[in-house]
Amino acid sequence: MTEARHTTNNSGNAVASDDHSLTAGANGPILLQDHYLIEKSAQFNRERVPERVVHAKGGGAFGYFETTEDVSAFTKAGLFQPGVKTELLLRFSTVAGELGTPDTWRDPRGFALKFYTPQGNYDLVGNNTPIFFLRDPIKFPDFIRSQKRRVDTGRRDHDMQWDFWTLRTETAHQVAWLMGDRGIPKSWRHQNGYGSHTFLWENAGGEKFWIKYHFKTDQGVETLTIEEAARLAGEDVDAHRTDLWDAIERGDFPTWTLKVQVMPYADAADYRFNPFDVTKVWPHADYPLITVGKLVLDRNPSDHFAEIEQAAFSPSNLVPGIGTSPDKMLIGRLFSYPDTQRYRIGTNYNQLPVNRPKSQVNSYSKDGSMRYTNHADPVYAPNSYGGPHASAAEAGETVATYGIEDEVIRSAYKLHAEDDDFGQAGTLVREVMNDEQRARLVHNVVQHASKGVSAPVLERVFEYWRNIDKETGDKIAAAFDK
Ligand code: HEM
Repeated sequence: MTEARHTTNNSGNAVASDDHSLTAGANGPILLQDHYLIEKSAQFNRERVPERVVHAKGGGAFGYFETTEDVSAFTKAGLFQPGVKTELLLRFSTVAGELGTPDTWRDPRGFALKFYTPQGNYDLVGNNTPIFFLRDPIKFPDFIRSQKRRVDTGRRDHDMQWDFWTLRTETAHQVAWLMGDRGIPKSWRHQNGYGSHTFLWENAGGEKFWIKYHFKTDQGVETLTIEEAARLAGEDVDAHRTDLWDAIERGDFPTWTLKVQVMPYADAADYRFNPFDVTKVWPHADYPLITVGKLVLDRNPSDHFAEIEQAAFSPSNLVPGIGTSPDKMLIGRLFSYPDTQRYRIGTNYNQLPVNRPKSQVNSYSKDGSMRYTNHADPVYAPNSYGGPHASAAEAGETVATYGIEDEVIRSAYKLHAEDDDFGQAGTLVREVMNDEQRARLVHNVVQHASKGVSAPVLERVFEYWRNIDKETGDKIAAAFDK
């Protein structure tokens, strides 16, 4: 039998009642001296923090990653050394919907990982797609606004979505992916995760490699039709949260196998397309998948707000042996995440248990709102009083020097031989999808574009799809003729 506990206020003082406010007589007015009522109401009024500007709706779980293979030839990163087991948090999400929107809307899914390593946190903030819509972070706010809500109606708007996509044709590959079956996973367990960008690995000998991460679901890829997804959106708006939670509770722990593609550093310069362009995949024939290890989710959060809502992932959280690449989108993201988290959660968000590294933090940052770990003098560097000092050897920083030129310009990437917007989207439709999948793709696009898309934008939709694949574009246009 658990011991009965007494309710207290936030300062630990026992309170007299959770039923009645303090009044002057049974029917009299409430008294200002009921400071417990005031605390309770005031606290309630402040319960919400801003939701994430994107990826607001999500869920997640804790688990571990175990490196089962030897990839030390490619990276010195501690967590990827043979036999090493690392605790982690994985948060899944949809992108455009707000908190409370259905889990089964068509959208990419976030696949955000935080590895709690002895060298500090390593975050891999990826999606369930190996590619993305854009090549330059300057376009990201416009893109997101086109996917969210209109100013006047406050509603999402398919005209806005197709207007943006067809004006920015670099979206073609990701849109073809999104409109296909994988645009609505059956559950978070039944989808792959990808780092999407190209990252840099460095081995103990200082040799560098470009890599891409693929987390292959061991549950198998399964998807929902738009009809199934619409039904579920009504029946259980949190269907994917429910699925993950229930699986973990019954001990059916979902797992993913991590594989990487490894490109020798020098190949990047004259590879047939720009290997840092996140709208492209690297063909497996050129760079085959190499197994690294196993990711397991085995523990549900105990407080969704504290551990999932306040979780703060950032592509800038890197460990020795892993670095960034010249992918402009990735570089843009290095700034955005900690910046939004200082606003969304608060300056000292990294002190919260879910974000706090398991390793020692010796940072010179101090004070700021809600700081609770004590800082000790000295508070400046360098100093003569034994404060921490930065060291290149200790940091083992893995930096890409590739492609640095002395000219400061605003420009698209320099073109490689096969760079274009539509090529890989066409390959996806023609060579990866089968007849049934292509038929569902046409159905999905027709359904989507038949909701409020204006005639001029619709013309561009047909053109866009004909550029991806002539036959698919013709079928979409023909469906509208009918
Ligand atoms: C969340 C910005 C591209 C995956 C976010 C957040 C911002 C953001 C501000 C909210 C973070 C928070 O409140 O904690 C950007 C910008 C991008 C970009 C500026 C491009 C320039 C991408 C790409 C991917 C991605 C390419 C995947 C490869 C995610 C994920 C989350 C997220 C998974 C949710 C993280 C979580 O679960 O807390 N993004 N993003 N984003 N983004 Fe991006």
